[in-house]
Amino acid sequence: MRTHYNTEVSKSDIGKEVKLCGWVNSRRDHGGVIFIDLRDKSGLIQLVCDPKDDENAWKLADSVRDEFVLVAKGRVRPRGEGLENPNLKTGAIEVVVSELTIENRSLPMPFDLGDKRVNEEIKLKYRYLELRTKENLEIFKLRSKAAIAARNALDELGFLEVETPVLTKSTPEGARDYLVPSRVHNGEFYALPQSPQLFKQLLMIGGFDRYFQIAKCFRDEDLRADRQPEFTQIDVEMSFCTQEDVIQVAEHLLYNIFKACGKEIEKSFKRISYNEAMEKYGSDKPDLRYDLSMVDVIDIFAKSSNEIFSSIAKDKKQNRIKALKVPNGDNIFSKRQMKGFEDYVRKFGAKGLGYFQMKEEGLKGPLTKFFSEEDLSKIIEVCDIKVGDVVFFGAGDKKVVLDYMGRFRIYLAELMNIIPKDEFNFVWVVDFPMFEIEDGKVKALHHPFTMPKDLNKKNLEEISSIAYDIVLNGVELGGGSIRIHKEEIQEEVFKLLGISEEEAKEKFGFLLEALKFGAPPHGGFAIGFDRLIMLLSKAEGIRDVIAFPKTQKAQCLLTSAPSEVDSEQLKELGLRIKKLRA
Ligand code: AMO
Repeated sequence: MRTHYNTEVSKSDIGKEVKLCGWVNSRRDHGGVIFIDLRDKSGLIQLVCDPKDDENAWKLADSVRDEFVLVAKGRVRPRGEGLENPNLKTGAIEVVVSELTIENRSLPMPFDLGDKRVNEEIKLKYRYLELRTKENLEIFKLRSKAAIAARNALDELGFLEVETPVLTKSTPEGARDYLVPSRVHNGEFYALPQSPQLFKQLLMIGGFDRYFQIAKCFRDEDLRADRQPEFTQIDVEMSFCTQEDVIQVAEHLLYNIFKACGKEIEKSFKRISYNEAMEKYGSDKPDLRYDLSMVDVIDIFAKSSNEIFSSIAKDKKQNRIKALKVPNGDNIFSKRQMKGFEDYVRKFGAKGLGYFQMKEEGLKGPLTKFFSEEDLSKIIEVCDIKVGDVVFFGAGDKKVVLDYMGRFRIYLAELMNIIPKDEFNFVWVVDFPMFEIEDGKVKALHHPFTMPKDLNKKNLEEISSIAYDIVLNGVELGGGSIRIHKEEIQEEVFKLLGISEEEAKEKFGFLLEALKFGAPPHGGFAIGFDRLIMLLSKAEGIRDVIAFPKTQKAQCLLTSAPSEVDSEQLKELGLRIKKLRA
């Protein structure tokens, strides 16, 4: 219908006739002459409807309102002296309309498009309107570029794009499954995949050697700013590979995606072990754009005359005493703020928050009286404290201390505004433990198909695995592992996880069987594609980078899903509803 997209029209078209299509971005009536800013995906152009040029077009233009859909034919002319708009690509020209068609009218907008203050619910209900803004279009252009770059990069490396089923059996990635009832097999259910994990392993057993997929995954879990129930992964698997090979592919892939999106990143990322990440930053996804790392001071505190500290220090395996130095903190923080910090960490299980302030005359603070001069000097030394600094201490159960001190580190960095906003800081977290014990239950830290390094260790928590995560700016961007390709190891891992033989057979029998037919060594990774785009586009949350996202309560406000179905459908499926919640 058009000769040009709006912003393709330029000074070189002056005098030519063009035909343009789009939406009314705004309309102004200047004493009988009507100006319309017409918008299409490329941007804006000014249309002029003057009764002297064309009476009909002018009359129609008079009835036009915001977001009406127009097709306009006209001649390009320069804007008058001093009337150019330097902020618009087409700001030097305008189109004098000779023929105007109103293709469609529009109700008044339910909210001002692009107004950040508008309530999220109304924006999600009319998501297609919100998508009309330039900011949104830019995000989806980036998303498309990134997906195409990912495909090209993996294709060049010999990876085959293969689709795996969406109606399938449960895959254990740690969340609840979304279930789909079967009509043909009443009482039976498909599960939507939490990831293509098992199928990609089967493709390796199928001899495909290198697989990838931009895959939809479904997880029924508590939602956060970086979590959606339905999300996308760039999912990769390869055969006859080491951890090093997989890491190289992931780095190459990310380098190419960022490059296609106009960002230069390093070609290979630094690495940190899971243990070091936890001990220094209190997180398995440390944000390394700023320092603020923790130091172990349990040996020094063991000698203090404070009973609480010395008794905590008795069990060095179970407990931690950590120091977090904030350079210049004594000068930055007010007394009230210092009090507030304690309230903050208490929310995450801290019993208190000790601190020392470094003055000219030495360490000061309520705790100094419990330490000898020698030990105070040691604290200054191991924490590398300078005059004006403040050091906070967390003491207690290892898990709790690392967690609240890790959160406190981020809290302080945000408060002090020391997080560089334009940096992309990647880090591999490697050597994950194979298992974690939560409330006495053994769980796989990654998933049960991860290759353990040494299954013979008595203490399960000491067994590490060939698993790795990619962290970008403190967000877990992706993760992967070398997989178990031998049936006997897989069976042993299931056993350690407390999965009985029958349960393993019922749930993963097909995998265990496949492992008997010459499964090659294999491994891979998956990158959270939505999170990647969120970080690349500096969007505020994951919803901004998904065309039709769900709310915090996993609802689609646009289509009103989930919704009840009619009784006929339930009958066919052999289901009767008994509501647990209103
Ligand atoms: P994992 O469970 O770590 O690994 O998932 C990989 C990446 O997917 C993203 N992600 C999510 N993004 C948005 N919303 C969610 N609810 C969500 N859950 C996960 C994260 C995460 O790092 N099969 C393994 C991969 C492998 O071992 O190859 C897996 O799915 O960015």
